[in-house]
Amino acid sequence: MGALLMLLSAAQRPGPEPAVLQYPKNWPAPRYDFSRNPLTREGIELGRRLFYDPVLSRDSTLSCAGCHLSFTAFAHVDHALSHGIQDRIGTRNAPALANLAWAQAFMWDGAIQHLDFQALAPISSPTEMDHSIQKIVEKLNASPRYPALFEAAFGTRKATGERVLKAMAQFELTLISAGSKYDRMMAGTDTFSRQEQNGYAIFQKNCASCHAEPFFTNFSFEKNGLPLDTMLRDYGRMRITQNPADSLRFKVPTLRNIEFSYPYMHDGRFRKLRDVVNHYAQTTALDRPLELSANEKTDLVAFLLTLTDRAFLFNPDFSFPKE
Ligand code: HEC
Ligand code: HEC
Repeated sequence: MGALLMLLSAAQRPGPEPAVLQYPKNWPAPRYDFSRNPLTREGIELGRRLFYDPVLSRDSTLSCAGCHLSFTAFAHVDHALSHGIQDRIGTRNAPALANLAWAQAFMWDGAIQHLDFQALAPISSPTEMDHSIQKIVEKLNASPRYPALFEAAFGTRKATGERVLKAMAQFELTLISAGSKYDRMMAGTDTFSRQEQNGYAIFQKNCASCHAEPFFTNFSFEKNGLPLDTMLRDYGRMRITQNPADSLRFKVPTLRNIEFSYPYMHDGRFRKLRDVVNHYAQTTALDRPLELSANEKTDLVAFLLTLTDRAFLFNPDFSFPKE
């Protein structure tokens, strides 16, 4: 009887099935305004298909996932600067994507204010997908599969730019990383080794002012003492604000899954966590010099490795969609 009632209610349900984000109880409420783009199972699935579909690029060779791979925390790993269609080299390293529902601005310099519009940047960038949302919409409306997916997600068969962007944002919002050893420690279901515990103390003292828990970013733009790359001449946040005080400020990246999201920094200049820690140990550009012994560096790296979230990296809901 119970099963039959459930079947009936599913059949009678007028539209797509509402979905709810799952995240730890002690996290703040997401910043994203879901009332303007309510999550649905069908919307998320459509967004996932679009994220993995090279139809989004001009020559239909490169998808979002081409630069943002699920098993490397949605960063790219084999090169420092991003590679677009026809191997055109970009100017920045693709960041890891996680917990975007809490983000306040996007890109290394915060050029984009809202997740719903973010996808327009790679779609139109000549060194990335080099396409236009209008042409993508035409291709989707002419495709044999997409009209039914748009109908399931939005009620009618028509693809529109707004629907494409909203569906992709829905998928990206589900990319929640909250299942690392660190998270289990916080929930009281796991314990740190002495080395990890010591690394955590060093982290809280030296790193957490910018890489604040639980997102491991304060969502702000900061200077971490890296010298300007004289080839790329990327001044970060100043590009957007034109304010000299913002020179060499970059968005503080999350450190979740940092074991897998190498190379590091906006230009991918470091390949190893040890290189990053060595940078922080020797820079004189921070307010407070960090004095880290060799053992402390090792402990700090051990702590950073507790941020690896295998359930996230290998989540079947995040990987290439099956037929
Ligand atoms: C050619 C490689 C490439 C492709 C293709 C690509 N991206 Fe990116 N992505 C990047 C780079 C590089 C950045 C950082 C750009 C910057 O800071 O100016 C980025 C940044 C982002 C961000 C901001 C993350 C943050 O925390 O600030 C999101 C979200 C994102 N991409 C999603 C997408 C989506 C969705 C697509 C497909 C429509 C896509 N990307 C296609 C390379 C790529
Ligand atoms: C003053 C703020 C600040 C402090 C303190 C700080 N960071 Fe950072 N961190 C940043 C910024 C900003 C970036 C990005 C810089 C860039 O790309 O040019 C960054 C980047 C990183 C990255 C690379 C992440 C990636 O995905 O590329 C790692 C790893 C990192 N920091 C670890 C640490 C550790 C460990 C400490 C403590 C020893 C620390 N940070 C202290 C601001 C800070």
